[in-house]
Amino acid sequence: MSYTNILSQSQSGITTITINRPSKLNALNSQTIEELHTAFERADADTQTKVIIITGSGDKAFVAGADISEFADFSVAEGEQLAAQGQALLFDFIANLQTPVIAAVNGFALGGGLELAMAAHFRVASDSAKMGLPEVSLGVIPGYGGTQRLPQLIGKGRAMELIMTAGMIDAAKAYEYGLVNHVTTQDELLVLAQKIASKIARNSSVAIAAAINAVNAGFEDGKNGFDAEITEFGKCFGTADFKEGTQAFLGKRKPVFPGK
Ligand code: COA
Repeated sequence: MSYTNILSQSQSGITTITINRPSKLNALNSQTIEELHTAFERADADTQTKVIIITGSGDKAFVAGADISEFADFSVAEGEQLAAQGQALLFDFIANLQTPVIAAVNGFALGGGLELAMAAHFRVASDSAKMGLPEVSLGVIPGYGGTQRLPQLIGKGRAMELIMTAGMIDAAKAYEYGLVNHVTTQDELLVLAQKIASKIARNSSVAIAAAINAVNAGFEDGKNGFDAEITEFGKCFGTADFKEGTQAFLGKRKPVFPGK
């Protein structure tokens, strides 16, 4: 499948997926969501890909939200379906992906854009980035996980205020809130994301996937994060990566992880 609205490029174990609809500020229409699903699925299945970076093209927007023109006439049932399908195809899909995902927020990340960044495992931002969930200014609420992930990341009171005011915060405030881990210049943004990705890529990909599962379990209803940690910890002992990691340490050499 070739893509119309996104670009996907792989180099040195890092796949960079770029949303490429700059004339619409990279707004997420249904085709873009489907293409993103496919690109993430492929990158996750590719054993060469150790880390995925998601970003937006141009220097104005990461993603300015879900494409408003597509859902303006929707009924109640269609609205519910839009949220359910989007969460399953993209937002929950990314959050639970076994390959680490870093969002490089290069401009406006609004509505579905911030929800996409929040579905990633962590975020870095350019100093020009602006983030918010402005849905209530359109008479709707965030539907791609925003009401859940924003309070998890910045706390309930701050999330309530940001959602209720439909306001935007700049990169410095997002850093202060812990919404993004690092802020840098626009020019350095991908360089920084790649630098962090390279550090991650040196480690055991199976152990990283186990850590993603254990951390996520603590945020899921009906799951006990501590129990999940015990199970995932135990599973590591059956992997070739664990044997290589421990033997390399004891042999005073650098590990070469088989990723199994
Ligand atoms: N859905 C569909 N189209 C969008 C969009 C969205 N979420 N965000 C931007 N666009 C389109 C605009 O309609 C415009 O298209 P046009 O040139 O064909 O008219 C183009 O992208 C450029 O946007 P524009 O509004 O002219 O840029 P701006 O610099 O004046 O403003 C924003 C930038 C981000 C403040 C403004 O685009 C905005 O408020 N977007 C909507 C944000 C939002 O509410 N997102 C949540 C959706 S649930």
